[in-house]
Amino acid sequence: MSTVPSDRSPDSTLAFLREGYRFVGARCDRLGSDVVQTRLLLEPTICLRGRDAAELFYDEERFVRRGAMPMRGQRTLTGVGGVQGLDGAAHRARKAMFMSLMTPDSIRELGQLFADEWRTRIPAWAENGPVVLYDEVGRMLTRAVWAWAGAPLAEADVRRRTAEMHAMIEGPAVLGPKHWRGLVGRRRAERWAGELVERVRAGALPAPEGSALRVIAEHRDERGAPLPRRIAAVELLNVLRPTVAVDRYVVFLALALHDHPQWRDPVRADDATAEQFVQEVRRYYPFFPLAAARVRRSFEWRGHAFPQGRRVLLDLYGTNHHPEIWPEPERFRPERFAGWRDDPFGLVPQGGGDHTGHRCAGEWITIELMKRAAAALTGAMSYRVPPQDLALDLGRMPALPPSGLIVDGVRPAG
Ligand code: HEM
Repeated sequence: MSTVPSDRSPDSTLAFLREGYRFVGARCDRLGSDVVQTRLLLEPTICLRGRDAAELFYDEERFVRRGAMPMRGQRTLTGVGGVQGLDGAAHRARKAMFMSLMTPDSIRELGQLFADEWRTRIPAWAENGPVVLYDEVGRMLTRAVWAWAGAPLAEADVRRRTAEMHAMIEGPAVLGPKHWRGLVGRRRAERWAGELVERVRAGALPAPEGSALRVIAEHRDERGAPLPRRIAAVELLNVLRPTVAVDRYVVFLALALHDHPQWRDPVRADDATAEQFVQEVRRYYPFFPLAAARVRRSFEWRGHAFPQGRRVLLDLYGTNHHPEIWPEPERFRPERFAGWRDDPFGLVPQGGGDHTGHRCAGEWITIELMKRAAAALTGAMSYRVPPQDLALDLGRMPALPPSGLIVDGVRPAG
């Protein structure tokens, strides 16, 4: 049995923060292996990339999630005590709660709320000149997902709530003020989310049946107990925060339409083509760099030792760009998804495996919202993209073009 090839650095945390999405791939390429070891936050950590590695990573007999996500990530991005860190029966019961929200009708309803937002905002953009798409779309998603989740939201609070969601998303992989903003954003958000849950439980706030707020407030765990208020707040935020985060994908989608304008007409004309375009945006652009787990019991895989308790990271970005799965991975080619046979371990921007495991609960919502955005950007409006800094820095996590994508000359279509 061989040990895992190692980068031999005493600690690579700063290199990780500098190299970002390329950190794992660079070491895999250098060491000639899709299984490599490094030290992150002073802890030995095995990094994996590729299709077979993803299949291994999602084997719940081999890995657990408890204690896998570093505290700085939990205190900003996910919250402490949420579904991401559960295993076994507790995870299955909690995950079923999320998946019960994901019916086709319910997803369509959220898509419609988002499409309505575009319809109301486009005339205002036409009147008021250039807009930063990232800022606008974030607020549109906030309005849409709060309404869908049954959570009241005054128009005066939209900016503040969107900023809290952004702060949590940007908090984990940075040092200094952005990290602190993430901590503050989460503390505030957990407070008001907990109050909403309490009011629903007390009958003081009538959340519609089947809405996320009502389902979470009334959820019973695998032993029949309601969720503690703070955990219910964390789980409500696990619906609201990542839905607002789809704004990054919408910016990437607009960027892809800008860089590949020959796709505008086909995307507008044909639903299947729009879906292929959306899938390629999810594959190509960087969002979540990694997923984290710990070895349940020592085992050996392809001659490599995985000791019990070792932290293991799956390189999501590197798997989506692995040449053995994706020919010419650095080219944006939506046509690669024509006739694509869904491989739950090949396309992993939102995790892999099936949705009873730790794969993202909101993947169908994400695709629906992106398709609505594609329809709006190609069909409901015309616009220009003036000169600006659109370069994506793969060393910044999560990535975003510095300008947030400014559009001007907006005109409602026909
Ligand atoms: C913006 C687009 C999104 C991206 C890039 C994304 C990405 C991810 C990733 C990488 C994971 C972790 C997978 C793992 O640990 O193996 C995850 C988990 C999760 N996502 Fe998403 N997500 C997105 C949107 C959403 C939406 C819209 C929702 C809900 C409405 C959502 C809810 C969740 C939940 C609840 C989990 C935890 C699942 C579990 O641990 O069982 N996500 N997501």
